[in-house]
Amino acid sequence: MCGIVGYLGNKNTKEILLEGLKELEYRGYDSAGIAVLQDNDFESFKAVGKLINLEEKTKDFITDKFAVGIGHTRWATHGKPTELNAHPHLGNSSYVVHNGIIENYAKLKKELMDEGVVFLSQTDTEVIVHQFEKNLKSAANPFEAFGKTVKELEGAFAILLVTKEEEKTIFFAKQGSPMLVGINAENEKYFASSDTPLIGHCSDVNYFEDGDYGYVTADEIFILDKMDNQKQPHFSKLTQNKLSAQKDGYRFFMEKEIYEQTTVIADTLMGRLGVEEILFDELENGLFDGINEIKLCACGTSYHSALSATYLFERYSKIKTSVEVASEFRYREPIMSKDTLFVVISQSGETADTLETLKMAKNAGLKTLVICNVDNSSMVRLADASILTRAGIEKGVASTKAFATQVTVFWMLSLYIAKLRGSLEAGEIARQITLLREIPVCVKVADSMHEKIKRLSKRYLHGHGFFFIGRDIFYPLALEGALKLKEISYLHAEGYPSGEMKHGPIALADPELFTIALLPQHLLYEKAKSNVEELSARDSTICAISPLEFDKADDFIQISTCQDYMQEFFEMMVVIQLLALEISIRLGNDVDMPRNLAKSVTVE
Ligand code: F6R
Repeated sequence: MCGIVGYLGNKNTKEILLEGLKELEYRGYDSAGIAVLQDNDFESFKAVGKLINLEEKTKDFITDKFAVGIGHTRWATHGKPTELNAHPHLGNSSYVVHNGIIENYAKLKKELMDEGVVFLSQTDTEVIVHQFEKNLKSAANPFEAFGKTVKELEGAFAILLVTKEEEKTIFFAKQGSPMLVGINAENEKYFASSDTPLIGHCSDVNYFEDGDYGYVTADEIFILDKMDNQKQPHFSKLTQNKLSAQKDGYRFFMEKEIYEQTTVIADTLMGRLGVEEILFDELENGLFDGINEIKLCACGTSYHSALSATYLFERYSKIKTSVEVASEFRYREPIMSKDTLFVVISQSGETADTLETLKMAKNAGLKTLVICNVDNSSMVRLADASILTRAGIEKGVASTKAFATQVTVFWMLSLYIAKLRGSLEAGEIARQITLLREIPVCVKVADSMHEKIKRLSKRYLHGHGFFFIGRDIFYPLALEGALKLKEISYLHAEGYPSGEMKHGPIALADPELFTIALLPQHLLYEKAKSNVEELSARDSTICAISPLEFDKADDFIQISTCQDYMQEFFEMMVVIQLLALEISIRLGNDVDMPRNLAKSVTVE
């Protein structure tokens, strides 16, 4: 996701900004830019793609005296990854970089355009700099104009702004998106959206709080809180360990990524939720014309999210849908008909088997769509259409946030198709959009929940196997729970449809067989419960996950009471991820790099 850096001092500003952006690369981005103000003269550079492109563009640019500079890596949300949409954004005499979303940008933009302001980009960010310059006209000084601007913005943001009107100053504001300032003995000031770019440059850092805004100069850090009371910076020592800084204090990247699900799902939803419709600007009208069937193809965790989609597409979009494991599909001489939309799902966009099925579908003349986390990956380049999941870079080999965002996209896509096909009433689509808006809250990890799972995990370190069971869309979630556990704990685990246990697997039931039972209140509760009772009667050790108390369970993990089974799905998803994580940690395994596994499987 997006990253911000800023610098004020006498050293090589260009190098410091580029180095800082490099430290933020791991977050994922599709374009980058810097702006430097020295001798009251601005230079700005932007490039699409990797930082090397920006380095190339700036190679003849020299910064060898006092300067202020800002830089940004952008992960496209409003508008495509183009140079014009890359930050910093320019007004007449000021530049701005921004992380987050300005929710009222459309209204501000319209007002500014009515007053004759010309916009160059499609971004929400550009309104900030124009609004600032508008306020400058009536304000006593640039800081007053900046403060007024900040108060006019709604949404989440971390902002750095530099202006010729006050050339030795960086203005900042923070609301909802992270931002810190670092200092050292040489009177330099460094800004960033996370600690890593500051390591090795700063001794002490101040993490801004929501509502903080102000400015820095060589001699001063001036901060106001949201009530406009002046406050002193609160400095703490900066860690000098880069890897631990990247993990933001979490023990493993997987843990960090589980916690990040709340923000990345919000990013996935951003700009795509209308009142009674889903907006996928990236899909051309007509993609679904003549389509009577959907075929999904993927591997591993992505296959599980695809399997979830089959329930949503048939239930809501009323379109025939099937799913296949890519490594099977490619060799079984499948029949492909042209009224089928072929959809591949991949976090990396490079998985060899999935890529091959995409090529097969294209060769057979089918329309193709990819749901992917990596822009410009092989699959995105090849498919006719793509929807990006916006999960940011996933470092843990065991996929978590990628799965969460894939299912989010599929839920949105099922409603998008439902609207096209008229298979759901507008009111029902609106109701589900309201539910979707709440998913970032559903996946927020509560301390008490994490503590409970940590404690409970010690009882699940042995045994002769785990069965994760669920019905309907909770079956793919059960498969995903079992996959997570076996990947990082090396314990044997299987996912099963709850109703299928009595057709064979129940023969394994004894106290050393652990059943992780998914019991949503809002979908087939009674049916799923009786399947668990059958296992309990045969002495399997049961860990039930449900909003409803269940007295036949040995262990019980209670999720919140939700309005809908999809919200229960996301709450349970977090529980099974944390359970796998905590069991693996207790077993002393390398959670982020489990044995025998690779993050991107580019061989068949
Ligand atoms: C499991 C996991 C793998 C991947 C699979 C497909 O945690 O990450 O099962 O889901 O290798 O990878 P992508 O989604 O990149 O095609």
